[in-house]
Amino acid sequence: MTAEAVTSRPRIVLDCDPGLDDAIAILTAAHFGELLGITTVNGNVGIEHTTHNALATAQVAGLDVPVHRGAARPLIAPTMDAARIHGATGLGDVTLPGLTRSVASTDAVAFLCDTARSIDDLHLVAVGPLTNVALALRRDPDLRSRLAGLTIMGGGAHAGNVTPVAEFNVWADPEAAAIVFNEAAPLTMVGLDVTHKVLLGGDEAARMRSTGTPAAGFAASLLDFAYARCREFGLEAAPVHDATAIIAVTHPHLFRRSNHPVAVELHGEHTRGMTVTDVRPPAAIAAEAAPPPVHDVVWDADASAVIDLIVEAVVSY
Ligand code: BDR
Ligand code: CA
Repeated sequence: MTAEAVTSRPRIVLDCDPGLDDAIAILTAAHFGELLGITTVNGNVGIEHTTHNALATAQVAGLDVPVHRGAARPLIAPTMDAARIHGATGLGDVTLPGLTRSVASTDAVAFLCDTARSIDDLHLVAVGPLTNVALALRRDPDLRSRLAGLTIMGGGAHAGNVTPVAEFNVWADPEAAAIVFNEAAPLTMVGLDVTHKVLLGGDEAARMRSTGTPAAGFAASLLDFAYARCREFGLEAAPVHDATAIIAVTHPHLFRRSNHPVAVELHGEHTRGMTVTDVRPPAAIAAEAAPPPVHDVVWDADASAVIDLIVEAVVSY
């Protein structure tokens, strides 16, 4: 991890399920990247809420970004939300203004495929369940080769949050995740190994709020809610998973990573939704008949630099 400056703003489409940390990720992506579009997916809460929240976040920050509504349910798994963490509407206890904008389309998958075809250097960042991305791969099997990068917030080599070994975004639609991990290598897995090291709390909320802008106040309120939920679990600060995944794209030099085969477990009684990451020596992996595809696994970050960047993004509005 070095402290090189970032010289360009990557072009990003953000697939998300806002969600407290998704909303902060939208603000972060639009500040440090060129945010070409937002696609929404069922996840933390239902698709009506995640789509409404994406539109509301863009509106509060004055972002002129199209929002395309996506999948309303997982491919096969039953629908399971994370309203216990994100609140019934997905944005904690924030009172949102009335919407003055509406969705650009209700076909997120078409938008993903079309944008990947028409933009050469597109980074697709997916920070919710992988339903839309799996459906896009089914519609265009060459999707991965059209992208400059595919980064997901999800999974983890040595950690789970919904179960001892499964992370929410993979666990919520494991069949979709399996399609993406199997058919879209290499992807960058920004999993719980790293996101649990980038923790924001009361100090960061105060720094955001001190600017007095509506967007920074909005983000501070989201962070307060996440922080309060985390304290109920005995944690001293809150991971802001999805914004960390954005910084992994815009400031990759701040992260430590290595390449490993990763498989999504679909059948285990106790392990469904686990991202099984093979960290054995290459010779041991080479002896396997058919090892899973190799992905870029992110382990660690210069946490204080990443936190400062997230705050910098939020207070810029
Ligand atoms: C992920 O799950 C969701 O609840 C968050 O928005 C994040 O994308 C963390 O496991
Ligand atoms: Ca999310």
